[in-house]
Amino acid sequence: MPLRPRIVALLACVCASLAFAAEPLLLPRPNAVELTAETFTATELTVSCESGAEFAKVQRILTADGKLTQVRRSETNPTLRVSRLKTSAYALRIQPKGIDLAYGPEDQLNAALTTLRQLAWAAQSGWSVPCGTISDTPRYGHRGFMLDESRHFTGKAGVKRLLDAMELLKLNVFHWHLTDEPGWRIEIKKYPKLTTTGALGNYTDKDAPATFYTQDDVREIVAYAEARGITIIPEIDMPGHAAAANRAYPEFSGGGSKKYPDFTFNPAKAETDAFLKDILAEVRTLFPKSPVIHLGGDEVHFGWEQWPKLPEVQKLMADEKFTKLDEVEGRFVRRMADHLAPTWTQVGLWDEASRFNLPPAKTLLFWWRHDKPQGLKDAAEKGYDIVLCPRIPLYFDFVQDGTHKSGRRWAGKFAELAAIHAFPESLGATLPANAKIRGLQANLWTETAVTQERRDFLTFPRLLALAESAWTQPARKDFPRFQQASATVIPHLEALGLKPWKGDAEVAK
Ligand code: ACM
Repeated sequence: MPLRPRIVALLACVCASLAFAAEPLLLPRPNAVELTAETFTATELTVSCESGAEFAKVQRILTADGKLTQVRRSETNPTLRVSRLKTSAYALRIQPKGIDLAYGPEDQLNAALTTLRQLAWAAQSGWSVPCGTISDTPRYGHRGFMLDESRHFTGKAGVKRLLDAMELLKLNVFHWHLTDEPGWRIEIKKYPKLTTTGALGNYTDKDAPATFYTQDDVREIVAYAEARGITIIPEIDMPGHAAAANRAYPEFSGGGSKKYPDFTFNPAKAETDAFLKDILAEVRTLFPKSPVIHLGGDEVHFGWEQWPKLPEVQKLMADEKFTKLDEVEGRFVRRMADHLAPTWTQVGLWDEASRFNLPPAKTLLFWWRHDKPQGLKDAAEKGYDIVLCPRIPLYFDFVQDGTHKSGRRWAGKFAELAAIHAFPESLGATLPANAKIRGLQANLWTETAVTQERRDFLTFPRLLALAESAWTQPARKDFPRFQQASATVIPHLEALGLKPWKGDAEVAK
C-alpha cells in the first residue's frame, strides 16, 4: 500500500480505538459522561467496599436484572472498587479490567449503582457496560414525591413498589402525607382511637374498613426506603385537615365550617397541645433518621370560623391582644415548630406559613400555590429553603392529557409531561434569583385515585419527567431524548408491577 493510504488507514484505526461511544439513554440524564468504544464485561463481580450496608446495595441493585450470576465481596482482585467522596456527587471510572465507583452522600451510592444498572440494559447479552467516566452531580438535593394516604390508602406493597421506582429514577425524598380529613393512617400507641376510629373510611366510601400503617409497618417501610437511598418526610397535618383525628378525639377539636366540618384542632387548648406533642414524639421514634417532619399548615382558614367561639381562643386573644385569627394560627404554628426544632433538622410547612416569620434555618417551605407567585417571592425574601411543587405542573391529580376526563384542571390548565420536563426553567421571572431552592417534588392527592391502577396511571410516566427535571442541568435537558430514554425505563417499571400510562385508554378511577 502506498504511504498516504497507509497513514490514513493507521489514523482510522487509532481513531476507532479512541472513539467515543454515543451517549447511552440514561434517565435522568447524567450531567457529565465520556464513554469510549471499549467495554467492561463480566458474568460475576468481586467487590471491595467498606461496609456490609454498601455491599448489600451493590448486590441488590446489580443483580436486579438477573444478568450477573454472582456478586461477591472480596478485597483481593476486586473488579468493582467502592470508595467515598467528599462532594454531593458520584463518579464512575469504567475500564476494561474493572470499575471504580466513588460517592458522597448515601443516596449517591444508589444513584451510581443505578447508572451502572441502566448502562448494562443496553448490552445485547450478559452484563456489559461501556468504558469511560461519568462524574455526575444532581441539580437539586431534594428530588421528591408526595403520596396522600388519607383520601385513598395505598398500603405497604404499593409503597414499596413506589420506592423501588423512585430508586430507579434517582429520587431521594418520599413525603408521606399520613393524616387528613378522610382518614388517619399511622398507628399512635398512646391514642389507639386515631386508628380504630380515625382510620375508618376514605374519600369515596365513609364505611370502608380501617386502613393504616402499624408502627411495625412504618419501621419496615423506613428501612426499605433507607436501603434505596430515600429519606421519608412524614406529614402530620395541623392545625387544619384534622377531621379524622377529631372523629377519634373530639375533645381536641377546634371545629370547622359547614363545608369542612371539624376541620381544625383547637389552637389554644393546653390539652390539644399535649395530645399533638405526644403524637409527634411517637412519630420521631418511628423516623429516627429523617431530618424533616412536615406539619402541614395549609388552608387552615377553611375551617377556623368557630375559633372565636372557643373559650380558650377568646382568652388567648384577650391575653395576647390579638385582633385576627391569623395571629392565633401563627402562634400555634410557631409554638409547634419551636417544640420540634431541637429534635428535627427542619420543620416542613406548606407555603402559607411563610407569613408567620418562622426561623429560616429551621424551616423548609413547600411552594404549592402556583396562582400565588407572591408566596414564592415572600418565601425567597425571608430566606427560607424552598421545595417547588406548584399545582401546575407538579400536582399529579391534575389530568395529564387534554382528552382525559377524570382529574383536576385549573382555568383549563393541567399537568402535562412536557411541562413537567420544562420545569422549573418555565417559571422564568416567577422564580426569584435569590430563592434558595432545595429541590422539586411532585404531589399525588388521591381524591380521584381510588385504585392502584389509577395511582400508577397518574404517577407514571410523569414521575420520569420530574426525576429528570430535578437531576439534570437545564442545558442537558432535551425532551425528545427524554422520551427515547423513557422507552428504555418503562419496561423495567412494568417489571416491578407498575402500570404507566402509554397513551392508551384513560384509567378513570
Ligand atoms: C395543598 O394542596 N393543600 C397543599
